Amino acid sequence: MAFPTQRPRRLRSTPALRRLVAETDLRPRHLVLPLFVREGITEPVPIASMPGVVQHTRDSLRKACAEAVEAGVGGLMLFGVPAVRDAGGTAGVDPDGVLNAALRDVRAEIGDASVLMADTCLDEFTDHGHCGVLDADGAVDNDATLAVYAQMAVAQADAGAHLLGPSGMMDGQVGVIRDALDAAGHTDAGILAYTAKYASAFYGPFREAVDSQLKGDRKTYQQDPGNVRESLRELALDLDEGADMVMVKPALSYLDVLRAVAEVADVPVAAYQVSGEYAMVEAAAANGWLDRERTITETLTSIRRAGADVVLTYWATEAALRLGRG
Ligand code: PBG
Repeated sequence: MAFPTQRPRRLRSTPALRRLVAETDLRPRHLVLPLFVREGITEPVPIASMPGVVQHTRDSLRKACAEAVEAGVGGLMLFGVPAVRDAGGTAGVDPDGVLNAALRDVRAEIGDASVLMADTCLDEFTDHGHCGVLDADGAVDNDATLAVYAQMAVAQADAGAHLLGPSGMMDGQVGVIRDALDAAGHTDAGILAYTAKYASAFYGPFREAVDSQLKGDRKTYQQDPGNVRESLRELALDLDEGADMVMVKPALSYLDVLRAVAEVADVPVAAYQVSGEYAMVEAAAANGWLDRERTITETLTSIRRAGADVVLTYWATEAALRLGRG
């Protein structure tokens, strides 16, 4: 009987040994909490497909952000849900629009204690639900949209956002936003570029979260789930246009894309664990089919292992509290 001389189990035999040799660190600072703020409500509104996540009032938003920062999260990403929408998404550009007002509130609350980010995209603000403005034929007009993104980014930086998050996948969006920010004197406002954003079914619950008016899909601007080389091209373009950080989205079904981007990017890389990833785990856990906390930690650790410096997750505050204790 030949016994093994190599015994990898040795280093797994106690919690202290496992901790000593752990290759992947997951800390509160790695986590960014996305939040929704809705205009014209007096109480937070639960989002049925995202149990535990709500559309905030301006007051409850400020409180949730303070709690997240207290828990040590690395950042906050705000999305606005306006009371009135139009074809041009003008509420997104309006300095008094719900998102810009909320950014001012939150920045006043947290100062520089965490990193405040804004979704720089039109889909929450348009009455047709697309991420850009439409041309006469009803197609998303790339270059007309860029002009609006530029104004929107400046309004968000004026309102106190540290990082702008263009998520619309328009060609040239990073460069146009960089130029507009610089021209407005916001040379310190950074860009977290949604570099590889796929046309994904996993955004389903988000549509409820922002009360999306979209009919149809976003396949003319978001990427085909089967492609990875295309993400490297988007990466090269975003870096050339001045992205300070880049993002892959969704996360779990795209860990290979995340790995490919992280291997070559010379800026920090983020991954967005999206609404559908959250909903799947919550639904399975509610049925008793998965151990909720272990599953959450495993998904976040896996996203870090694949190469994400930063993870956007709706579990950020909860996970940060748990990790902070650990
Ligand atoms: C677009 C945007 C979307 C998400 C973040 N930014 C929706 C979409 O592209 O359809 C999805 C986030 C999530 O599902 O959690 N502004």
